[in-house]
Amino acid sequence: MARKDLHEKPFDETTIAKLEVFEDYAQAWIPTFVMSGISNTICIFDFFAGTGYDKNSVEGSPIRILNKIKQQIGNIFQKGIKVKVYLNEWEPQKKEQEKFDLLKTACLDYLKQNNDVKRAIELEFYNEDFEDLFPKVLPIIQQYPSLVYFDQNGIKFLSEKYFLELEKTKQTDFLYFVSASYFWRFGESKEFKVHLDIDMAAAKKDPYRFIHRNIIEQLRQKLPSNSKLKLYPFSLKKGPNIHGIIFGASHPRAVDKFLSIAWKRNETNGEANFDIDEDNKKTQLTIFEGKRLTKVEDFKDRVRRKILANEIRNNFDLLNFVYDEGHVGNHASECLREMKKNKEINFDGNSPLVTYDNVYKIKKKIEYKIL
Ligand SMILES: C[S@@+](CC[C@H](N)C(=O)[O-])C[C@H]1O[C@@H](n2cnc3c(N)ncnc32)[C@H](O)[C@@H]1O
Repeated sequence: MARKDLHEKPFDETTIAKLEVFEDYAQAWIPTFVMSGISNTICIFDFFAGTGYDKNSVEGSPIRILNKIKQQIGNIFQKGIKVKVYLNEWEPQKKEQEKFDLLKTACLDYLKQNNDVKRAIELEFYNEDFEDLFPKVLPIIQQYPSLVYFDQNGIKFLSEKYFLELEKTKQTDFLYFVSASYFWRFGESKEFKVHLDIDMAAAKKDPYRFIHRNIIEQLRQKLPSNSKLKLYPFSLKKGPNIHGIIFGASHPRAVDKFLSIAWKRNETNGEANFDIDEDNKKTQLTIFEGKRLTKVEDFKDRVRRKILANEIRNNFDLLNFVYDEGHVGNHASECLREMKKNKEINFDGNSPLVTYDNVYKIKKKIEYKIL
């Protein structure tokens, strides 16, 4: 299967959107671990790091990581945190590893100009096939809080042998890039099945634009039944093709941060850089269905029903439902305030307290009383 080389041309809009999601997450992740004191060492891995910049000097993932570290430099020094950065780039079947050379030059130049970052980090370069490198560095990922990027071409490294290793780690947040459209076209082929065996009939049950969402659904089914790992999609449309990010993490704080980033990027669906659920069309009345609910309206409707059915009784239940459904606390809060105003329920105070801080940090529980 011929692969396109991302670095032959300047980054396009979709690539930049992907890089922005990556960097937004680094921006949220770094201060969390720097300030928490959970570990004196934190690690960031970029296994498919590219060249550092594109042809127009637009920053690629490794430089964006360094920029995000720089933004936290004061806190990093003050807290005495060691930030280890692992960058890998390898061009299959090439003797001259030009991209790796460019990567090294770009990052070392950056550090020359940013001596503070140079002093704060330990930077390791690798020029290895991911397949060989991953088992070597896995013990580091297992030991320290780690943010891991898999910005691969295609889908190969979403293979269960890597993915299920990540599932076992306790403090890893990862972002995969996947060309979901490859699944649609080649998912049945043997070449694909060796890497990841997906039930393509199930993955194709919905229109093509949902392929990324459906692949994640299938991946969830591969997780052990007691797994705490949560997976979320962010689909990216590029011309006729659908690609996407798969975010994975076990800690609710990580889930909360990723979902906030995703909903900030797209306030309609929090899940794609396009109108994946055709919510724009739902403002019109149809003869047979009346007005169809948008994704957010539908979610609020389900929250309301669950509250009235006593299936959700307090903010702890509610926040977990919010995360399971890939929404943000705000959507649920709006629904509950509306219900209180309509005298369907009552709760103490003005806020239904559906936030990470209330539920997981200060553990302040409030009950919702049905009237
Ligand atoms: C999608 S690009 C990554 C882009 C990068 N994140 C950036 O911002 O520029 C994927 C990179 O992985 C490299 N690559 C391909 N196969 C690889 C392998 N088996 N192991 C490691 N790197 C590989 C490619 O040379 C390419 O530069």
